[in-house]
Amino acid sequence: MSSCSLVIFGATGDLVRRLLLPALYNLAATDLLPARCTLVGVARERLSGEAFRRSLADALRLHLAGPPDQRVMRRLLGSVRYVIGDIDSPRTYGQLASALMSIEDHGEVSADRLFYLALPPMMFATVATHLAAFGLTAERERAGWRRVIVEKPFGVSVDSAHALNQELTDVLEPHQIYRIDHYLGKASVQNIQTLRFGNGIFEPLWSRDYVDNVQITVAETVTVERRGRFYDATGALRDMVPNHLFQLLAAVAMEPPARLDAASVHAAKTTLFDAVRPASANDPRHDIVRGQYRSGSVGDASIVAYRDTPDVDAASTTETYVALRLRVATPRWADVPFYLRTGKALSRARAEVAITFRRSPTMMFPDEQAQRLEANVLVLEVAPEEGVGLRLNAKSADPLRAVDSVDMRFDYRDYFDAFRAVGYEKLIHDCMVGDATLFQSAAMVEAAWRAVAPFVDAAGTEPSFYAAGTEGPPEADTLTKPDGRRWRPITEGDAR
Ligand SMILES: NC(=O)c1ccc[n+]([C@@H]2O[C@H](COP(=O)([O-])OP(=O)(O)OC[C@H]3O[C@@H](n4cnc5c(N)ncnc54)[C@H](OP(=O)(O)O)[C@@H]3O)[C@@H](O)[C@H]2O)c1
Repeated sequence: MSSCSLVIFGATGDLVRRLLLPALYNLAATDLLPARCTLVGVARERLSGEAFRRSLADALRLHLAGPPDQRVMRRLLGSVRYVIGDIDSPRTYGQLASALMSIEDHGEVSADRLFYLALPPMMFATVATHLAAFGLTAERERAGWRRVIVEKPFGVSVDSAHALNQELTDVLEPHQIYRIDHYLGKASVQNIQTLRFGNGIFEPLWSRDYVDNVQITVAETVTVERRGRFYDATGALRDMVPNHLFQLLAAVAMEPPARLDAASVHAAKTTLFDAVRPASANDPRHDIVRGQYRSGSVGDASIVAYRDTPDVDAASTTETYVALRLRVATPRWADVPFYLRTGKALSRARAEVAITFRRSPTMMFPDEQAQRLEANVLVLEVAPEEGVGLRLNAKSADPLRAVDSVDMRFDYRDYFDAFRAVGYEKLIHDCMVGDATLFQSAAMVEAAWRAVAPFVDAAGTEPSFYAAGTEGPPEADTLTKPDGRRWRPITEGDAR
């Protein structure tokens, strides 16, 4: 019987405890993990194997949507191993090799290995290099596959992403590298593709002929919390745009790939990123607004100003909010403005893509009614609600009103029982079966950084400020107003 080892570097960290472990539990609960699958954690904290297992069980109790099933817990955690070690020390890899050999009956069984690098990004290349040096990632005949999942962020610029790609491909084959962006694990993000290409009614409208503008919003209520050191050196633009926001952009704006396989989808997305430009050809400074939150309140919680956060420079100019205006220089999207924004400590958590269609000619309606007719908006809801909404104009039931705007909605929760996924399930499973479609290729990440570079260069130093708990800096309106458009309200958040 074959075995599969899932080696997690950074096994005591936040990502593992909060997201990866619940995802693995969900996979085990739905029989989507290989029958003989052993978790191997690696970190520096000095824990016994048993203490590590107990801490994982505690994390599951804390972070699962409901009480864990003991049978599934035993299946997932029953044979867990823990290797104490620094990623810089060759000894760590020697110990890991011994652990893997014993799991794999000293070469007696065909053994697959998935290495998950849930580590700070500057450590990715070091670990890959050591793994290769110890022969742990070599794919030999009948030995089983070896794959490496690399977390985000993947580089902080074109050059650093390129250098990281180079370091990884120096020691691994391209087909062994899985660059993750967990947004792609969400059914509601994958659904953008299904909605576009699996229904006869949308794709014919999906162009400059019918679309007036596209808005992509990833609004968070959370602050930078304990990530001050990382965040202050990174900012919202680099932390969120080339990955999460661009994955939404790609799903909406890419050309239909010839097939829905990894090579075709990656090529379509890379081509799309190559076509992204700041909207103002000559001066991209008009296409970016950066904001930073001051103190305020989100719901009942008081929020301290970003500059007063631990590990953040008291005079920091790092943005916690960014809004961009861009165009996609393809025949399909010529002249259609794309507005992207993301921020922390905003009034409401909401991630969505809103496609506003051109208005219908309304001359047959009396003036007073024509003014009430709104543009149709198709809203692809990604978080926290997952679904699709369509804003329509309808004859009002009120005898004194002729028209009103109404919403048609599809909510994932109304249709799919299995809707408890944290998003990583699909990605871990796809990696185990060797399907890289929902991961990022080397060319794709570099193209995304290339597309973001003009905005980074135009960003300026001083951010605009906004009170925590609001919709972001009022200056963001300077991106939409000159085009005669408005941002959709974050707070109301319906399809209006
Ligand atoms: N947390 C999230 O929600 C989230 C979401 C998306 C992506 N990510 C990405 O996931 C990665 C991990 O993030 P995280 O939030 O889990 O970080 P974290 O909580 O700081 O955890 C880092 C882990 O790495 C281990 N580690 C650090 N230095 C090490 C070393 N020299 N040798 C061995 N182990 C070492 C730490 O354990 P010891 O200190 O015991 O060694 C810990 O287990 C990052 O790339 C992050 O960008 C995180």
